[in-house]
Amino acid sequence: MSEKKEQPQIVIKNLWKIYGKDPKRIFTKKMQDLSKDEIQEKTGCIVGMRNISLEVERGQFYILMGLSGSGKSTLIRALIRLIKPTDGSIEINGKDITKMNSEQLLHFRRDTYGMVFQHYGLLPHQTVLDNAAYGLKIRGVPKGERYAKAMRTLETVGLKGWEDYYPGSLSGGMQQRVGLARALANDPDILLMDEPFSGLDPLIRRQMQDELVELQEKLQKTIVFVTHDLHEALKLGDQIAIMRNGELVQVGTPEDIVSNPADDYVQEFVRDASPAKVLTAGTIMESPKVLLYAWEGPKTALTLLRSNNRKAAFVVDKGHKLLGVVKESKLEQLLNLAEKPKGIPLSAIKKITSVTEDTIVEDLFSIVSENPYPIPVVDENNKFKGMVTTDQIFESIAPAADEGGDND
Ligand SMILES: Nc1ncnc2c1ncn2[C@@H]1O[C@H](COP(=O)(O)OP(=O)(O)O)[C@@H](O)[C@H]1O
Ligand SMILES: [Mg+2]
Repeated sequence: MSEKKEQPQIVIKNLWKIYGKDPKRIFTKKMQDLSKDEIQEKTGCIVGMRNISLEVERGQFYILMGLSGSGKSTLIRALIRLIKPTDGSIEINGKDITKMNSEQLLHFRRDTYGMVFQHYGLLPHQTVLDNAAYGLKIRGVPKGERYAKAMRTLETVGLKGWEDYYPGSLSGGMQQRVGLARALANDPDILLMDEPFSGLDPLIRRQMQDELVELQEKLQKTIVFVTHDLHEALKLGDQIAIMRNGELVQVGTPEDIVSNPADDYVQEFVRDASPAKVLTAGTIMESPKVLLYAWEGPKTALTLLRSNNRKAAFVVDKGHKLLGVVKESKLEQLLNLAEKPKGIPLSAIKKITSVTEDTIVEDLFSIVSENPYPIPVVDENNKFKGMVTTDQIFESIAPAADEGGDND
């Protein structure tokens, strides 16, 4: 176990952005404790970011969420140094970009980032292909190569066949796909997306989200994604950072945020979140009373079942991999055979649908309805981790009974 954990790809420490004249003057003891509004009243300066520290792992889908004016865009722009922070540091791949000169920044931006914004920012008089190839052109990639790459990313975002069209003849959703293709054409290390789907109709928006989830499965990019929509955040994010008045209020997984909102502001955000869309099999699973090992004799297995008052149980092999379920009646049949088997033969074990720990509760409904057993939970190597019963599923989504006082 000597393997060291990889450094987070983005490390932000004590980052401030004060908009206005002579911003450093707010860094006095007296000013620092004042609220954003008080600082603005006293100095005319606007707090864009206040003392933000956070880390983003490589390959993570990181969401910045908060009301309008909470500092999301300021933060995402600081990451690419479109704005210069007033104080603090931003390390990307171990390099502090707040210390770079403009020459270094230019290269760094081109080599590191892809960006997608709400207003697609496409060039209206250039074709879809030229738009997708735009970033490569700026980098001086020869025509043949940049078109080949742009064609590939257009295909990735589902726009094959649209290369020669102009952006104006495309729907909003399709234009944003061009934006995404353009951002991906460089094969960037980090993808920055500032409310990319906010301008789209709800149906198209949901479809784009689904596609982005699918795409990210393949790409495994580091993505920093701004939204003010909780459902979007829950669907896409590995990690969600919630901002208010330029500050980070809470950082956590979608489950953390929904199950333990840090304060009323976060609570307000997550009020309509459906637990079924957030809770996972891994959090609600439990250990079975009886787990059978395939190499155990049917007699032992039957004794275990009966002493625990069970009619069936899951069976695993020596590697703890799930084989399926065996029923009491099957074990009895085995014992009646002339030649009793040593272990539980595969022919006696019924295969059964399993899920992984990250399966959301909503996706468990259809499975419980189609088989009479609890749902086994396994890891990616089919190793048995636990099980989920119908009762647990319904309990997990029932409103908490002990919260009370919600009529104030
Ligand atoms: N260029 C600017 N000059 C002055 N104030 C700004 C500027 N850009 C943003 N702000 C202010 O900084 C705060 C954060 O804004 P922003 O980062 O755009 O929030 P969000 O993206 O969450 O809506 C807001 O109060 C906003 O008015
Ligand atoms: Mg914004």
